[in-house]
Parts: sequence; C-alpha cells; structure tokens
Amino acid sequence: MNPLSKYKKAIGDYVNLDPKHISLYWKGRVGLFAILEAMGIGAGDEVIIPGYTCVVVPNAILYRGAQPLYVDIDPATFNMDTSKIESLISPKTKAIIIQNTFGLSPDFDAIQGIARRHDLKIIEDNTHGFGSSYKSQLAGWLGDAAFFSTQWNKPYSTGIGGFVIARENALAQQLLELENTLEKPSTAKSSMLALQMRLRKMMDYTGLYWPAVKTYRWLSKRNIISGSSAGEELAGIQKPPNYWMGSSKVQAKEGIRQLRVFSENLKHRRRLANYYRSACHNIGLAPVFEPDYAQHIFLKYPFFVKDRQHFLDLASKDNIRLGEWLSSPIHPIAENWDTWAYKKGTCPIAEKISQHLLNLPTDPDVSLKEAGRIMDFLKKNRKALLANVEEVLRF
Ligand SMILES: Cc1ncc(COP(=O)(O)O)c(C=O)c1O
Repeated sequence: MNPLSKYKKAIGDYVNLDPKHISLYWKGRVGLFAILEAMGIGAGDEVIIPGYTCVVVPNAILYRGAQPLYVDIDPATFNMDTSKIESLISPKTKAIIIQNTFGLSPDFDAIQGIARRHDLKIIEDNTHGFGSSYKSQLAGWLGDAAFFSTQWNKPYSTGIGGFVIARENALAQQLLELENTLEKPSTAKSSMLALQMRLRKMMDYTGLYWPAVKTYRWLSKRNIISGSSAGEELAGIQKPPNYWMGSSKVQAKEGIRQLRVFSENLKHRRRLANYYRSACHNIGLAPVFEPDYAQHIFLKYPFFVKDRQHFLDLASKDNIRLGEWLSSPIHPIAENWDTWAYKKGTCPIAEKISQHLLNLPTDPDVSLKEAGRIMDFLKKNRKALLANVEEVLRF
C-alpha cells in the first residue's frame, strides 16, 4: 500500500469509516473547494458561513462563483448564533458551513433542524476540531461532508495539509473522482515541506517564537516557502497558482505518525486547558465555556485583552508564545472586507470580539513549565486584560 492509501486507512480507523469515504489535499481549503464542486454549488448560489472564520473559507466559495452569507457568533462559544441563520435563507441558499471554533462543536441539533426545513446541505469546517465531538458523535459524523486541516496550528500537523470525509456513498465517490484530477505536488515542493517540518521539530521556541513566526509569515506571504496562505489569497478573490493540489507522500507519512500519538496529543491539550482554567481563575478571568453537548479539544485557550497589538508587543518583548487568531471576522483580513462580500457591521459581535481576543497555546510542544511562564506573564500584565466576554462587549 502506498503512503497515501495508508494515511487514508489511518484516518478511516480513527473516524470509523472506510477509506473510500476519505480524500486528501495539499491544504484543508482545497478540500472545501472540492466539496462545493461535488455538491454542484457554484454561480448564483449562496452559502451560509460563520462571520468569524478564516478568509480561505469565503475564498473557496467565491472561487466557485457562489456568495458567502455571514452569520454573527454567539459570544460564549465563538460559533454561529443559530438564532440568526434562518432569516438569511433564500431560494439561492444551498448549504451551511458550520465550524468548531478553537475545537468546540456548534450546537448541531439546532442547525440540523434549520437545514432540514430548508433542504440545505451541511458542510463541517472541522479545521479546528479533529477529535472533538457533539453528543458523542465525532466531528465528521454530523454534516453531509466535513473538511479538516493539518496545518501547523491545527489539532495535529503535517506542516500543511487537509482531508475530507463524506459518509454518503455518491458524494464520496464524486470526491474520489475529483481527487484524481488534483495536481501532484512537485518533488521540490514536497522536499521543501519536509525540510520545514524538520526545522520546526528541531526548534526550541522558548526564546525564538516571535522571530520564527515573523520570518515564516514573511517568507510565506512571498510564496518563498510552503506557507498557510499565498499572497493572492489575502489580496483579493484570485485563486493562487497550484491551488488545486493533492497531498504528498511526505504529508501522508507524517499524518500516520501523528495519528499514532493523537490520543496523547488530545490528553496534553486537555491537561494544559485545565491548568489555564485554574490559573486564569486565580487572576479573575472567566473560564472558557464548555457546554454539556460537546467535548472541547481546546485547540487554543482563548482570553481577552484591552488592546491586542499592545499586548502582543509586550509578549514579543518577553518572548511569550501567544496565538493571534481569529483577529477579524475573516481572519486575517483587517480592511476592504467588501472584497469578500462582508459588509462592515454584519457581525458586530465577531467584529468586537476579534479586536480583543488572543489565545494560549496547547500544542504538544508546549510544556507545563512554559504554560506556567505564560500565566506569570498574564498575571504581571493583569491590568491589560479583560475578565470576560461581557467586559469585552462593553469595552
Ligand atoms: C476556520 C478555518 N477554516 C479553514 C481553514 C483552512 O485550513 P487550511 O490552512 O488547511 O487550508 C483554517 C485555517 O487556519 C481555519 O482557521
């Protein structure tokens, strides 16, 4: 069996599905594009998405010639406010994309009711939440199709990468046919990614996190290395060259390795989240909301600050590793939102929250000692923090 087939089998074993229901991509966003194509969603159609997502999500919809419709979030969960979905639906609406922001599933029953009433497809954006579940159903088992990411910051990493799960036979078959049309990554591209992965594993981030992130972003924006987003994706609705690309053997082999230790990875995230919760409590910060209906995987542990940039500058000076997303309703886009069919004011809660949210890392390479350093830093800068979401919305 070649590494790509082995990888599909390893994913299938984890999610309890035959590998025929799984397709692999260079990045998760390409998987979303493939799902839209397999569902026949294109010109004249509309797709409902959370107004607190990554720009590559509306990009995939716009590349298909369809329109994204943004729904504001529930400030407690950072997921779509289900009470705001139905008023947007028209005969043009074909699908709802649900997202498990920071690893927390949305309230799926409410969304499923709406989708059934209006005959809409449900696409799961599980890029933040592989391994999370809703009422004991694993992410990927809820909607008609689901896409996942294995980029640097995601539940497990293959450098960059993504896959799609479709439980329904006909849709899965269409996705496999589309998968056969994907461009193959060149040897140079795969080797560069392998090198990036090796460098990242070797690196001790304790003192180098911010210089490393800044260098990575600079190189990635100029398409010098295989980064998260090409310059074109952040500048407008222009599909970058080589967008339609499949997975490489390098990614598949790393994915298999990561899946072997995935349950340890999730335990580690939970351990750090528990630590952050009690340490935050000690300095008067509200805990992250965990509803009964879902199992959170804590891809990130969000918290709020008065002034994001000021706080990030302080963190950079003290070499403190913090996460910055999602920094806008269409992260990381800070202006010209109209380009992505987002009208300012459409999602006031997401606009407000994104100005004040940062996150604490739970990645496998973050030790409890480093988490302790991060919390000491928060304690030292307590005056620059906001205690809870109510304070954020009033600020
Ligand atoms: C909410 C969301 N959706 C989709 C993606 C895209 O995943 P990928 O980078 O694998 O294309 C991301 C990536 O950060 C994301 O945060």
